[in-house]
Amino acid sequence: LTYSIRPLTKEDLTQVNAIDREAFPTQWPPPNYRQELQNRLAHYIVATDDARTEEPPPPKPPGGLHRLASRLLPWFKRSNTPPVPPPQHYIAGFSGIWMMADEAHITNIALRKEYRGRGIGGLLLIATIDLARGLNASFLTLEVRASNTVAQNLYSRYGFNKTGLRRGYYLDNREDAIIMSTDGIASPAFLANLQQLRESLSRKLHPSASS
Ligand SMILES: CC(C)(COP(=O)(O)OP(=O)(O)OC[C@H]1O[C@@H](n2cnc3c(N)ncnc32)[C@H](O)[C@@H]1OP(=O)(O)O)[C@@H](O)C(=O)NCCC(=O)NCCS
Repeated sequence: LTYSIRPLTKEDLTQVNAIDREAFPTQWPPPNYRQELQNRLAHYIVATDDARTEEPPPPKPPGGLHRLASRLLPWFKRSNTPPVPPPQHYIAGFSGIWMMADEAHITNIALRKEYRGRGIGGLLLIATIDLARGLNASFLTLEVRASNTVAQNLYSRYGFNKTGLRRGYYLDNREDAIIMSTDGIASPAFLANLQQLRESLSRKLHPSASS
């Protein structure tokens, strides 16, 4: 099983919106990922399952004039039938940051349910940290629901510490947000820990390669 990480594109929006709705059903309004693609502060990545593909959304049906011309003029139909788009990468999950001065703020990280509990969250988080390093961030930070212990455990493992609390931050149920942040991501200690995590994740995702 292999997963690849690459930047979000507009072809991914249907899948990413579906993953967002599955992961954060109560968040209102839902994030506008199409707008995020235009946002200069925002940087999003996706993890694709290289063993699967997704059928592209069906092309929009042609308008009335186009339909009429196709019926009356066979050559018009032949030369104006849109090509069948190629199958798309199957997205297991995605994450994103906003770069604000030297802070990389994780806006979202989410996996399809069927891909949780296999280490792919770690893969995305490492790729997000690498993305932030490439953009010269000094540290990463995020907010997480007080009840979301699965996500908090993941962040702790990858070098995030609890650094604050926002009371009643989530509007749907007035739940508190825990703020978690890394130390300096360019420090030798952080990089050494990151390298260890990379290696143990690689053993988890590709067990046969290390035996
Ligand atoms: C948070 C999230 C990205 C973590 O990614 P992940 O790849 O599932 O993380 P891990 O593989 O490290 O598994 C985390 C824990 O999930 C649990 N888990 C195991 N199998 C699971 C499964 N099939 N389904 C769900 N959780 C499972 C385990 O307790 C595991 O902890 P462990 O390390 O002790 O085994 C993912 O769970 C997710 O998308 N959650 C919904 C969105 C969300 O809450 N995002 C964070 C917002 S701040």
